[in-house]
Amino acid sequence: MVKICCLGAGYVGGPTMAVIALKCPAIEVVVVDISTTRISAWNSDQLPIYEPGLDDVVKQCRGRNLFFSTDIEKHVSEADIIFVSVNTPTKTRGLGAGKAADLTYWESAARMIADVSKSDKIVVEKSTVPVKTAEAIEKILTHNNNKGINFQILSNPEFLAEGTAIQDLFKPDRVLIGGRETPEGCKAVELLKSVYANWVPEDQIITTNLWSAELSKLAANAFLAQRISSVNAISALCEATGADVAEVAYSVGKDSRIGPKFLNASVGFGGSCFQKDILNLIYICECNGLPEVADYWKQVIKINDYQKSRFVNRLVSSMFNTVAGKKIAVLGFAFKKDTGDTRETPAIDVCKGLLGDKAKISIYDPQVTEDQIQRDLAMNKFDWDHPIHLQPMSPTAVKEASVEWDAYEATKGAHGVCILTEWDEFKKLDYEKIYENMQKPAFIFDGRNVVDPEKLRKIGFIVYSIGKPLDAWLKDMPAVA
Ligand code: UDX
Ligand code: UDX
Ligand code: ADP
Repeated sequence: MVKICCLGAGYVGGPTMAVIALKCPAIEVVVVDISTTRISAWNSDQLPIYEPGLDDVVKQCRGRNLFFSTDIEKHVSEADIIFVSVNTPTKTRGLGAGKAADLTYWESAARMIADVSKSDKIVVEKSTVPVKTAEAIEKILTHNNNKGINFQILSNPEFLAEGTAIQDLFKPDRVLIGGRETPEGCKAVELLKSVYANWVPEDQIITTNLWSAELSKLAANAFLAQRISSVNAISALCEATGADVAEVAYSVGKDSRIGPKFLNASVGFGGSCFQKDILNLIYICECNGLPEVADYWKQVIKINDYQKSRFVNRLVSSMFNTVAGKKIAVLGFAFKKDTGDTRETPAIDVCKGLLGDKAKISIYDPQVTEDQIQRDLAMNKFDWDHPIHLQPMSPTAVKEASVEWDAYEATKGAHGVCILTEWDEFKKLDYEKIYENMQKPAFIFDGRNVVDPEKLRKIGFIVYSIGKPLDAWLKDMPAVA
């Protein structure tokens, strides 16, 4: 029986291993983590992450061939294949600060693997890492190996998106496995391929060399983020010219060379991957003497930041150039719908922008806890991707931000509402009731294009929707930067 151990029970490790266990009943899968609270949550009825369909998969396999444990060394030493899915935050200090990946957790995982292994191991990079990390890891493993163990490193990046993780894992567009082009390397690639072949058609399993696999993951995320920055850049031009970004995106996406997906204009992209991976790509380009290529990708992040500040500026300028002391309701805090994840969510920057202008904000999100929101608003950039117990001391709550458990409570008495996550329930709210209970004039700033602006204007709202023709009211307000 093949034994798999996965280091890191997070958004990637947890769901991926659960699906491997479900699809491969003959394989024993143990997910380990340094966080005891995370492991207890995986062993309880209240899983540590919200992901549609995940509960069901875990229930079917947990205790059968899927286990969650903090006994890291035992399970690493017993495993044939070790997936490493630990944090790779952006460095906050030292060389490459603000850009390069911090490989502290990866390095300590590799040293531990070298230390406790007694038999041959295949070590699989699951978390996104800079190109050539495999080589560095290989060095750590072989230089700390005096027991004659054969370590094979594979790169098997995960392409799942949060909110659809289970569907993405069941039916991936492709599985990518990179390995060394040696007989031992090829054997390791074949073994991992045979695991996925339990449910993924063979022609969708791509095998490449290690460096191509590592770079493909960074490139895929950079291309996806670039599409969003492209449509967001066009959204600003739509507002200036009276075009409608939804119509433009639809027409553009009809070209089969471009395709219709991932063209929704928004207040900005978030999530743990896009910005981090692009920064990483930029750093690698700079290190390899390619400043023009680095500058090209920098622009994707610049437009994303511009889109968030443009949203805040639009809001403040339409509300008579000040939000000081005004209640602004924020609907949605997660970085996208169907997840409770707030890593790099645009809501953090928008809320900080509003707080900077002395607004009182009242936040509602169906999946994000008050504790998480407070932590996010008080946290410094790039601290978010460190395990909680290693984050700076618990910050003091931001007084001007309150968290409500209902959209109607959050909007009661507010001067303005911003929609920052596209939760389905925001489409179905009773906006007449919300309007009645708000200050007048009542504003709605829709950062996700979930509401019908014409319908809301009929109720009496002044509506701003990203990339849509502007309300007469907004046209009269001073131009935004
Ligand atoms: C992404 C990649 O999609 C996935 O393949 C990779 O493995 C990890 O990174 P994720 O960050 O979970 O997944 O979510 P994704 O659906 O890609 O959305 C990222 C951000 O882009 C979200 O904030 C989302 O709201 C935003 N987005 C997405 C848009 O603003 N417009 C779109 O059209 C699509
Ligand atoms: C383009 C658009 O495709 C077409 O829809 C529009 O109406 C006019 O402009 P065209 O310029 O005739 O058409 O040719 P196209 O096939 O788009 O190629 C443009 C250039 O891009 C060529 O130099 C081509 O060699 C290059 N190209 C195209 C690449 O370098 N790589 C590719 O993957 C595709
Ligand atoms: P991702 O989105 O990539 O899955 P997460 O932050 O959700 O990232 O998960 C990474 C997990 O890895 C965290 O739960 C963290 O506690 C865990 N972790 C970090 N270092 C180690 C380690 N050396 N051994 C085991 N688990 C680790």
